[in-house]
Amino acid sequence: MLGPVSGGMMGAMLGASLWEPIVRRAIVGRWGRLKMAPAIDVPFPVNLGPLGLYLHVPFCRKLCPYCPYNRFVYSQSLFEAYERAVCGEIELYAPYLNGTPISSLYIGGGTPTVDLAGLVRILRRLKSQVGPIGDICVELHPGFMDTHCLAALRELGVNMVSIGVESTSDRMLQFIGRTHNAQTALDAVRRARSQGFETVNADLLFALPTQTPRQWRADVVRVLDAGAHQLSTYPLFSFPYSDFGRRQRLARVRQPPARSIRAMLDDTDGIARQRGLHRCAVWSWIEAPHKKFSSVSRHHYIGFGPSASSMIGSHFYVNTFDVDAYASALPGRRPIALVMPMGRRMEMAYWVYWRAYELFISDAEFRGMFGTNQSLVRLFGPSFAPLQAAGLMKRTRDGYRITHRGAYWIHRLQNLCTLSYIDHLWGRCRSSAWPQEVVL
Ligand SMILES: C[S@@+](CC[C@H](N)C(=O)[O-])C[C@H]1O[C@@H](n2cnc3c(N)ncnc32)[C@H](O)[C@@H]1O
Ligand code: SF4
Repeated sequence: MLGPVSGGMMGAMLGASLWEPIVRRAIVGRWGRLKMAPAIDVPFPVNLGPLGLYLHVPFCRKLCPYCPYNRFVYSQSLFEAYERAVCGEIELYAPYLNGTPISSLYIGGGTPTVDLAGLVRILRRLKSQVGPIGDICVELHPGFMDTHCLAALRELGVNMVSIGVESTSDRMLQFIGRTHNAQTALDAVRRARSQGFETVNADLLFALPTQTPRQWRADVVRVLDAGAHQLSTYPLFSFPYSDFGRRQRLARVRQPPARSIRAMLDDTDGIARQRGLHRCAVWSWIEAPHKKFSSVSRHHYIGFGPSASSMIGSHFYVNTFDVDAYASALPGRRPIALVMPMGRRMEMAYWVYWRAYELFISDAEFRGMFGTNQSLVRLFGPSFAPLQAAGLMKRTRDGYRITHRGAYWIHRLQNLCTLSYIDHLWGRCRSSAWPQEVVL
């Protein structure tokens, strides 16, 4: 799966290479390729309005073969170097964050709680340096979230958690190389529910090799029965740069065909609706009135930690992936590896893309974000017209809504974007701590 790309995937990639420049021209407003270059003079965030924060904890006990994220096998000494450096990075930003409303903090990984005491120290430090933080969300691994851990997170103000259940089939969990079984994962969901978090999200991987729609339906029903308020369903991305899969038997298997993937998504939507959940993003469903757990809903955000990215409107940038390089840069200078200056149109396109992912692009929010003289219809209407004609999106009184059919295609597009942009960027950042220019 993660090794040589499959025939279907190759076709999709070839298709992507044909239409990708056209989509880029329509949305971003330029034909040229996007470039990220080594950082010079990246401004600090000032006067941006509400900011999101992201903290990346790049350590896990065992590395899952399919995982594309920047993560390393946990060792106490490496964690200590990381902890010193991340606290230094927070301190560099602190003067610019003081007084800025912080809408949320998202803690991702890796396995953020792999060293719970370390995480608690970092969070205390962060909270002492910035003002009050809105929602605090943490990604959790079912094997690293006992009652003591959950209580410590609650005490620090964490109100939303997302649990990597991935599957409720022991055979499948073993096959993809997870260290937990289905019982542990479902118990973890129940435990988080009983601790009173505002939102408990469960991640499930779908379109796994050999997975049938029937098995998938059982996964969805079981995590909802265990009490998840929100369900996020990720197609297993196959990152060509990741050579981990090649060494595993995952290399010899293929994703189910497109029609099964479509059936699985339709089934998810049906089951979720029957249970009173509604679709809140291309691959997530939530029960009202719970707040959506999402890593992508913030427009401007600052990321701390190796590989964390930041988006400050005028610039999008990404930290070095290498823990040693990250630790050596700090506390003297920011560990930014690559940066991309963003024009106003590109910044708007970035916002529109993520709103489309959340299924609704609001006129009023667009004007609130970019100025009252800016019109979504005037700027993006011509690009949206063919999508409306194809039944993928609808004009409503207050904006544009993505249809059920549109959600399916964004799902597929997201996979291709992941392959063509993120894969390339992350692949280069993993092979060199300070890469030269990356053309996307
Ligand atoms: C950082 S992990 C979650 C926390 C914890 N490390 C764990 O594995 O349970 C975030 C989520 O990314 C998703 N994920 C990981 N690798 C993926 C891949 N190759 N394709 C799609 N989703 C993936 C999984 O659903 C996973 O729960
Ligand atoms: S999926 Fe989670 S536990 Fe597995 S390697 Fe990735 S971050 Fe670590």
